[in-house]
Amino acid sequence: MRLRLILLTLLTCFSSATAHSTPSPSPSPARAIASEIDAKVSALLARMTLEEKIGQLNFPSLAFPHDAQLEAVRRGRIGAMLNVVNPDHMRDFQAAMAQSRLKIPMLFALDAIYAFRIAFPAPIAWAATWRPELAQRAAELVALETAQTGINLTFGPMVDISRDPRWGRVIEGAGEDPFLAAAFASARVTGYRKGGLATSAKHFVGYGAPEGGRDYNGAQISAAELFDRYIPPFQAAIAAGTETVMASFNTVNGIPVTANQWLLSDVLKNRLGFDGIVMSDFAAVTELVNHGVAADHADAARKAFNAGIDLDMAGQAYDRYLGDAIAGGRVSTAQIDAAVRRVLTVKYRMGLFADSPGGVRKIPARPKEEAVRKAAREVARESFVLLKNSGATLPITPKSGTVALIGAAAIATNDHSWYGPALLEKPKTETLLDALKARMGRGQSLLFAEGFADPCGLAFKDKAGAVATAKAADLVVLMAAEDCVASGEGVSRTDLGLSGVQEEMLDALVAAGKPIVLIVDTGRPLALADVSAKVATLMVTWHPGTEGRAALAEILTGQYAPSGKLPMTFPRSVGQVPISYSDLPTSRPMTGDDHSFGDRYTTGYIDERPTPLYPFGHGLSYTTFEYSHLEISAPRMGRGGKVEVRVDVTNTGMRSGQEVVQLYTRQLVAARSRPLRELKGFEKVALKPGQRRTVRFVLNAADLAYHDDDGKPVIEPGKFDVFVGGSAAADLESSFEIAAD
Ligand code: NOJ
Repeated sequence: MRLRLILLTLLTCFSSATAHSTPSPSPSPARAIASEIDAKVSALLARMTLEEKIGQLNFPSLAFPHDAQLEAVRRGRIGAMLNVVNPDHMRDFQAAMAQSRLKIPMLFALDAIYAFRIAFPAPIAWAATWRPELAQRAAELVALETAQTGINLTFGPMVDISRDPRWGRVIEGAGEDPFLAAAFASARVTGYRKGGLATSAKHFVGYGAPEGGRDYNGAQISAAELFDRYIPPFQAAIAAGTETVMASFNTVNGIPVTANQWLLSDVLKNRLGFDGIVMSDFAAVTELVNHGVAADHADAARKAFNAGIDLDMAGQAYDRYLGDAIAGGRVSTAQIDAAVRRVLTVKYRMGLFADSPGGVRKIPARPKEEAVRKAAREVARESFVLLKNSGATLPITPKSGTVALIGAAAIATNDHSWYGPALLEKPKTETLLDALKARMGRGQSLLFAEGFADPCGLAFKDKAGAVATAKAADLVVLMAAEDCVASGEGVSRTDLGLSGVQEEMLDALVAAGKPIVLIVDTGRPLALADVSAKVATLMVTWHPGTEGRAALAEILTGQYAPSGKLPMTFPRSVGQVPISYSDLPTSRPMTGDDHSFGDRYTTGYIDERPTPLYPFGHGLSYTTFEYSHLEISAPRMGRGGKVEVRVDVTNTGMRSGQEVVQLYTRQLVAARSRPLRELKGFEKVALKPGQRRTVRFVLNAADLAYHDDDGKPVIEPGKFDVFVGGSAAADLESSFEIAAD
């Protein structure tokens, strides 16, 4: 139901700007507050000098001497700061602001994304839960921990769509699918805001589609594709109230977004109706010189500003050059006023002024550590994706016999965090070894060998010892991890295998002849075809955070069943990427899974099967589910109509479990090729052994719209196939039609 609402909001977004401007006879409280804010902003603007106005657009980092920064704040030349985590510095800045002429409150921003102190799993794991409400709670708790420090804005959520796991930043998003990502964008914005932080949906737009997967590289994206695939999560974030949007570093169709007037002003501000702050990314304004679209920093400041960047993050180019640009007539005072108006309006909306019409911002109480840990554990537990489990090797039961746990990651207290928490003292993380010892039944014997010199298996410590330990056991659990710093910003990869000597260790353990459960911590899909073939069980645990190891012990021992599903396709090899379930059909479609030379003139590779190793949406439980009785309420609907899709899901195994029921559609004939499948609904359901539930989805004709070359939505009549099941490879099928009116 909530997802339908989100989608409806997205699809009606084109008309929402008009709806907002229709005068109402009795103004709603929200409208009254908005007009009061407007009046206050106008009054404040009228009192500001040009220097103070430009100051509101200046968003420096801590790179300059503290005293010089404080003096600039006193003079009203800094409107926002990033990365102020030192409480003394925060106090100094607040005091300096209070000494300034107009005492305009400052934005204090931080990458408090999935962690402040207690680390939740990384955001890609949030998406793997397929439970947006868990992501909302996680975001709220992260915000609550962060807000205590005086920070009032987080640089999140990252809502970039990515189909290319070579790009390291897939860890920060919700994967490849716009429908899933929109649901998580909305949940994350709502959560952070509930926890007391304003948000920044980033990176508008197309940052997740860099050519070759190389961070910061340009993307080529048609208007239709931008609106179909990349913009929906931003629309969801805007609908959920994001106060700011961050522009992306890269070029889209040859023009850097930071200087792209069409994207920032025409699309984001006018068409999507975003009336908050548009900020640059870190030093992106001055980096327009590197892009080759600005001659110098002065030129860069003018181009970014005219394109629609309101706030210059870490560049100081507005501070230095906007005054001259106005004096030279290259930027108008009206434009400056419009940008400052956005900044002040957001500050009033956030309740930062003592006379904020909607009420003054109250920092919610610090959450209890126990509550944060409990939520972090639940997110971790629900995010692990069991990719393969031959012969029901997991869970570990007394029948499993002696278990050998191998890998330095099993005794690491490192939670793989990458942003935020790196700045602070880390909280205690239970090791997997301790967590397993505490949870394995009495009489079950657990052996341990470190094997590697480090948690990411970059070098051996004692390979022979690990093999000997495996030989003495009946079942081997090997802990592997993508190199701990190999996901995140600036870490694109060409090799998506296990890092270091981990595969060598795996081979040695395979030779020992015992069934192997391989656990992989990773921030992105890896290419694990060979690895997967060698093991009985393969489970991905992402970067699981402070409570991740305890959650893993709960899953390994069967206290809970795994229930995560892939938010991104796992390829067989790097050569297959970018790869997605929602590719367009081609003139020579691939047939079957075994692409041989006989199929030469079809789309694919001669040396690789056409299918991914594990498709989008895939993930196993310790039980099995069966789908039946797929029904659609009507064979056809009009362009303004809707149908209900119903399906029965039964737990056919011996254990309780959760299944993510997924609904996909395909439009068979249209004016442009439509994706082979598109996710249009999902619901995670818990079922006891033998239990059956009917899951219902409502599909509006508007949910099936696509965008034309001008980015306008089109609902085209025609036949739609419907697929329901537990992954993008779902095979229970039916169809309906949208009739021409
Ligand atoms: C650069 C990153 O692209 C952005 O996502 C982040 O918020 C800023 N740095 C600030 O740290």
